[in-house]
Amino acid sequence: MKSFEKLLLQNKAWAQERISVNPGYFEKLSKIQKPEFLWIGCSDSRVPADRITDTEPGEIFVHRNIANLVIPTDINLLSVLDYATNYLKVKHVIVCGHYGCGGVKAAISGIDHDHILNMWLTDIKNTYNDNKKIVDSLATSDEQVDKMVELSVIKQVNQLAKTYIIEQSWHKQQLPTLHGWVYSLNNGIIKTLVTVEPPLK
Ligand code: CO
Repeated sequence: MKSFEKLLLQNKAWAQERISVNPGYFEKLSKIQKPEFLWIGCSDSRVPADRITDTEPGEIFVHRNIANLVIPTDINLLSVLDYATNYLKVKHVIVCGHYGCGGVKAAISGIDHDHILNMWLTDIKNTYNDNKKIVDSLATSDEQVDKMVELSVIKQVNQLAKTYIIEQSWHKQQLPTLHGWVYSLNNGIIKTLVTVEPPLK
């Protein structure tokens, strides 16, 4: 069996299992999507939003990119943010990074990756330049990467707060609350770094 065929087979088994537990499972899910959360996470295959939060389909609206970046000119991210904020009216937007992130590692390694990746990682390189003293003072490269992961998540939350979409949503509907989290691949635990509530009117 080819590797992709295994996915299709497992999908059939999964769908059957869902129905056996709850016969109305898909009927109910297909009718309504009302997630309370938007998740902005890393594309890393080891950090699936629903698995690590033990949530069901329908509970989290998801956007993922390399190193969970919030780039103010990224039309993909902005359209997801717009839809989640203004149509789904999510209550929380979570930026979740993870320790040992390959994108962060690549950005601060100084190794030249080709044009596209270099361009994408610019924001992390800027974060590194702004915090070089603190980061370089750490003993090991793993500690340096993990510090950068935290600094970058906090920066992404701040960048999120400055988008027109969030500013308008805060003004109009006092939603959503922004969160910066970081996930540990070593123990599966999420640590909270920062929470930003809508400003009081
Ligand atoms: Co990553």
